[in-house]
Amino acid sequence: MISTDSADRLRATIDGWHKAGETVAFVPTMGNLHDGHLALLAEAKRRAVRAVTSIFVNPTQFGPGEDYESYPRTREADLAALESAGCDLVWLPAVERMYPLEQPFMVQVPDSLSNCLCGASRPGHFDGVASVVLRLFNQVRPDVAVFGEKDYQQLVIIRQMVEDLALGIGIVGLPTVRESDGLAMSSRNAYLADDERARAPVLNRVLTEMAEALCEGGEFNALRRASLGKLEAAGFRPDYLEWRSAEHLGEVRPGQPSRLFAAAWLGKARLIDNLPVN
Ligand code: PAF
Repeated sequence: MISTDSADRLRATIDGWHKAGETVAFVPTMGNLHDGHLALLAEAKRRAVRAVTSIFVNPTQFGPGEDYESYPRTREADLAALESAGCDLVWLPAVERMYPLEQPFMVQVPDSLSNCLCGASRPGHFDGVASVVLRLFNQVRPDVAVFGEKDYQQLVIIRQMVEDLALGIGIVGLPTVRESDGLAMSSRNAYLADDERARAPVLNRVLTEMAEALCEGGEFNALRRASLGKLEAAGFRPDYLEWRSAEHLGEVRPGQPSRLFAAAWLGKARLIDNLPVN
């Protein structure tokens, strides 16, 4: 496995693969890897001859007062996990390479996609995500990139960016990887104290029950009130609980795919989850 912070080495390696007719699949990450990331890498390996991962804690997607400084950085363990999982190349760009200008060029995500759900309480977050993913795509030049459905709003935004900007990269969304009790895997689960970790699966349980009740014809607002009550009773501070189109995150339309989305604080951890309403 090659791991490099040199843009020249990255370019030469990828050029060599392209010249040899080898396809490239890409998994961008912020490191602190868990089994969810490794599932994305396994999918990347199924989709292309070569698998590339990046590790970059992206400052532009953290708001003031968020956890940019304290975000867990575990490079040695991450590289070991990627090597055993069969990654071909790990791209480790420095902040100055990604953002050489004091006022960097940024992607502006359309309001309809960025101002709702997580974007409503994290202004600028998705502009930061799109800006770094566009840079990474241009550096790695993959045929396919794999993202987790846990960050479903991010996945919808990246798909739309790729389409609007004609980037010609296939975007694959992979179902959320969960702990055995249903909690969605996330690097931020490490912020949970033991008693909070024991209560954390309530978020997924409440969403699952609500999705089932909606399928059986339940009324959204009444179900939402009851679900928020259950979350509060378990010690969560809910941020949002919404039912949205799975395609464009707007209003649910009859017969179109839709999902339930929730974010809630439990102690210092802001947990997110989403589920299809079939
Ligand atoms: O999902 C993530 O880990 C990040 O948002 C991403 C896509 C690597 C961009 O920094």
